[in-house]
Amino acid sequence: MAFPYEPLYSTARGKAYLGDSLDVMRSFGDESVSLIVTSPPFPLTFQKKKPYEAVGIERYVDWFLEFGNQFRRVLKQDGSLVIDIGGVWNKGTPTRSLYQYHLLLGLCEKVGFHFAQDFYWYNPGALPAPAEWVNVRRIRVKAAVNLVWWLSKTPWPKANNRNVLREYSPDMVRLLRRGYRVKTRPSGHSITHKFGKDRGGAIPPNLLEFGNNDSNGVYLKRCVEAGLPVHPARFPRALPDFFIRLCTEPDDLVIDPFAGSNVTGEAAERLSRRWIAIEVIREYLEGSKFRFDDLFMEARERRRGWARRGNRPRRSHGRNPGAHRRS
Ligand SMILES: C[S@@+](CC[C@H](N)C(=O)[O-])C[C@H]1O[C@@H](n2cnc3c(N)ncnc32)[C@H](O)[C@@H]1O
Repeated sequence: MAFPYEPLYSTARGKAYLGDSLDVMRSFGDESVSLIVTSPPFPLTFQKKKPYEAVGIERYVDWFLEFGNQFRRVLKQDGSLVIDIGGVWNKGTPTRSLYQYHLLLGLCEKVGFHFAQDFYWYNPGALPAPAEWVNVRRIRVKAAVNLVWWLSKTPWPKANNRNVLREYSPDMVRLLRRGYRVKTRPSGHSITHKFGKDRGGAIPPNLLEFGNNDSNGVYLKRCVEAGLPVHPARFPRALPDFFIRLCTEPDDLVIDPFAGSNVTGEAAERLSRRWIAIEVIREYLEGSKFRFDDLFMEARERRRGWARRGNRPRRSHGRNPGAHRRS
């Protein structure tokens, strides 16, 4: 079957479609996608007036599971689904909704996903809210962590943590320089000489600390100039970047079915992955095009630099360039 949709825009590696992702995804082939990384609309936002379907918290899980079935169909056997899902306070009380956990159970027990790992995205810049419980009555603290569920079609999704290594801590760098004395730790664990080997960086924990102010320079400026709304619920590029590196290889297909300002597409393009973004609100998708101006400008600058130096770069293929030892 020919693909019946025209993209609103496309780049060297990706296409952005305007529409309801449930409809658009029905035209994807089975097992054609390596990674779905997305931040769906949270039920809280549904209380406001929006042009998309208004789903209250009581119906949210059933609403989402329909997408879940499509996600599972389009994912390859070694594919992954990564959902960044923020928490919601119950209306009128200082208690939290359990909807994220119901959603996780539904996706695993009804749709058939496997729970590869839970992640926690800590945003140190999160504002204290809701004001009534945190600032006024002072009976709760600020919620600064989003849950991120990593689900997979089989228990063995494609993954390589060597692609997401972090810089070694200064202590570890010192230890690598001086060498490690084999000993038993107070916990009783024996640490062998293998611990003292430089493996190019530290394996990251499942607590991801990212501020939410990266990658938006040209995007923000150009949206304002064009009179388009800046997306109010963007995630930092570091988030999709992490999972794209962890779960895919260059040229794999990454999709974001709730694309918003298409941060995922930008991350995928920068990492030489193919991508598809689907967003139901035209203005958000139109604005998202500006992310690629930034990218193409950077590429042009780089090419000019190489031309001046009379050489060409080696392709990095998305290995983690930030994971060098501190010198
Ligand atoms: C939390 S935002 C995603 C923001 C995005 N991660 C970013 O960084 O810009 C969720 C988006 O899903 C879109 N959306 C809601 N229902 C949709 C549907 N059925 N199909 C496609 N997009 C939808 C909303 O318009 C909203 O922009």
